[in-house]
Amino acid sequence: MVRVVGIMGSPRIGGNTDILLDAALEGAGEAGGDAEKVILEKLDLRGCRECESCFKTGRCILKDDMERIHGLLDEADVLIMASPIFFSGLTAQMKMMIDRCQCLWAGNFLLGKPIGGGRRRVGAFLSVGGRGDLSFNGAKSVVRAFFLTISVEYAGELLVPGIEGKGTISGHPSVLKEARDLGASLVALVK
Ligand SMILES: Cc1cc2nc3c(=O)[nH]c(=O)nc-3n(C[C@H](O)[C@H](O)[C@H](O)COP(=O)(O)O)c2cc1C
Repeated sequence: MVRVVGIMGSPRIGGNTDILLDAALEGAGEAGGDAEKVILEKLDLRGCRECESCFKTGRCILKDDMERIHGLLDEADVLIMASPIFFSGLTAQMKMMIDRCQCLWAGNFLLGKPIGGGRRRVGAFLSVGGRGDLSFNGAKSVVRAFFLTISVEYAGELLVPGIEGKGTISGHPSVLKEARDLGASLVALVK
């Protein structure tokens, strides 16, 4: 079974990012993936304290819901990161989650212990923004750096400009189909 993890980074539950991610996870499920969605806004998460404890252990000293996310990131064969654009970047929720993976960076690059067991893992970035195409560049480069850190191949993206009001994306069935197809194609890559 292909393990699919979707991380929902918008604070607006039921909003555009959430709807887009649901479509991608539905496609992944239809293609045979076992999909789980994580809604960051609902979790107890704090930011990285840059204490560098993880440089020696590969583990984070903070005890909160990030422990569960670290486990899911290790298990995932397919990782779908979804965040709207806030001030030309990822949301604070998504960026905080990524920063808390500094222990995985330490494990991979300092301690020679990459997560994911060395198998092929693929991921994609889904995003929506109220303005134009250029808004996505900053967020995209962060997600690429994150995937590199956790040994996930950046295998696809769906970046949708011009989407602002809550649920506006539902009026774009062709975009939702693209999301479903992307989810299915990611599963096919690692099946
Ligand atoms: C704090 C904040 C900052 C935003 N900054 C940008 C931006 O820099 N560029 C952009 O295209 N849209 C920006 N937006 C618009 C959101 O990306 C847009 O409304 C999106 O559809 C929200 O998705 P959601 O419903 O999943 O939260 C911003 C919205 C908020 C609340």
